[in-house]
Amino acid sequence: MRINLRKESDGMNIKKTIVVAGFMFLFAIFAAPVSAADNSCLDCHEKLTAFSEKEKELNDIRIEHLQRGVSCSLECHATKIDEMAKSNYQQWTNSKHALFNVTCENCHGGNSSSDVKETAHAGVLNSSESNSPIFYRNVPETCGKCHIDELNQFKDSKHYQNLRALKQAPSCDTCHMPHEFRVLNASEFQTVCSSCHNIDMKIAPDVPDKAMNAIDNAEKLKNEIRTADAAIRQAKQQGKDVTSAQKELEAAISIRDNLPIFWHSFNLPNFQNVTDNGIIHAKAAQTDLGLSPIKPSTPGFGALLSLTGIISIYLLINRTKRKDN
Ligand code: HEC
Ligand code: HEC
Ligand code: HEC
Ligand code: HEC
Ligand code: HEC
Repeated sequence: MRINLRKESDGMNIKKTIVVAGFMFLFAIFAAPVSAADNSCLDCHEKLTAFSEKEKELNDIRIEHLQRGVSCSLECHATKIDEMAKSNYQQWTNSKHALFNVTCENCHGGNSSSDVKETAHAGVLNSSESNSPIFYRNVPETCGKCHIDELNQFKDSKHYQNLRALKQAPSCDTCHMPHEFRVLNASEFQTVCSSCHNIDMKIAPDVPDKAMNAIDNAEKLKNEIRTADAAIRQAKQQGKDVTSAQKELEAAISIRDNLPIFWHSFNLPNFQNVTDNGIIHAKAAQTDLGLSPIKPSTPGFGALLSLTGIISIYLLINRTKRKDN
């Protein structure tokens, strides 16, 4: 799993990523259908009420009624819940979680070897119950069972502090779309942030723009890394010594790989500093090979770093190391 791979050197990381990608592919072809058949949650939820067209129509009307608060029969509630359970299954099948066999009971609990609903659902609690693993305030810890690094960073954030204090704040699932649990694209992302960060609500309304800048900057780092990587390959072919450029590139790559984790402390100035530092390393690799014209005359790139940048990188690397032991 990528989560554990970050601990290795970058060379190892790349190799392992390739191995994992290959494994994922095989897994998707062979393993997933077999193990899915052994999991009662998947088995049963897959088959839940495949609606006929007529039933669908009726159901839509009933749901509309429900949304407008028009009183409704028990039967209609059941239909709505059934459809919800089915669509959760469908979204899940499109997720990376499905690919990696992260199944329903990993987040919901219950007994996935029983095909009797009541037994299978033993311990499955509704999201409105405060001791449920999917109650919004417990979601970070539920996800953090596997996404440890993201959780640890998230704990440093104002978002997490607000969640703890029972105030309004996004939890992991606010930004990661149940049940696809994917990373948002740029426009979705800005919409999510501005649902709270706007002038009317007076919660740091400058956040959506600043966040987009931060992500753009991370893209810039990726581009500089690609340029540096290409330059190193070319220089190697020409028999040049690339040792020092390679070191700079590795530093840049390690920062790039940690950024999605570091992001979750929602400290945008720190995020920018760390990204800028990565860009400096990637450019230094290019300069080493005589590519980039902007070689500095004075003490070197280090002087360009702000103190907070250095401190946050130290914390980031130190944190990663601590977790490895
Ligand atoms: C035999 C069929 C069956 C099995 C097995 C099953 N479910 Fe369900 N599940 C349902 C149905 C039907 C519903 C719709 C609500 C209801 O009838 O309780 C549902 C609803 C749910 C809900 C929503 C509950 C709510 O109160 O809103 C969750 C969460 C859930 N199932 C999770 C699981 C998990 C996790 C497993 C495996 C450990 C599982 N289910 C196994 C049939 C099943
Ligand atoms: C990675 C964790 C995770 C996995 C895997 C997962 N769920 Fe969920 N599920 C959640 C979270 C978090 C919520 C609450 C989201 C919300 O409030 O909208 C939720 C909500 C639900 C609900 C609504 C119930 C309620 O109490 O509000 C149903 C039904 C459901 N999930 C079914 C499933 C089924 C079926 C699977 C497997 C195919 C599955 N889930 C897999 C995390 C997960
Ligand atoms: C049982 C372990 C487990 C749990 C619990 C879990 N995940 Fe995951 N998650 C994984 C694995 C494995 C992957 C795929 C490997 C990777 O991308 O690191 C993944 C991938 C992801 C991704 C990346 C998806 C992509 O398209 O790149 C997101 C986002 C994510 N999970 C969010 C969540 C959230 C939010 C929760 C809690 C509601 C959660 N996960 C709970 C194991 C888990
Ligand atoms: C306010 C929105 C928000 C919240 C809350 C949030 N995330 Fe994310 N998450 C993002 C964004 C945006 C990215 C992509 C960052 C990037 O590419 O640098 C991301 C990336 C990820 C990834 C992919 C990391 C990778 O290596 O590519 C995982 C896994 C993840 N988040 C898990 C979580 C978990 C677990 C929580 C809760 C503890 C959480 N997220 C809370 C917005 C959020
Ligand atoms: C559900 C509401 C909600 C959503 C959605 C949300 N936030 Fe927040 N955010 C808050 C709250 C509340 C605070 C705390 C503000 C405070 O106490 O100063 C906060 C604080 C922050 C801060 C710290 C601001 C500062 O001045 O210190 C950053 C950065 C941030 N959010 C980024 C984001 C990003 C990026 C997104 C979208 C991916 C996002 N938030 C989505 C509610 C939200």
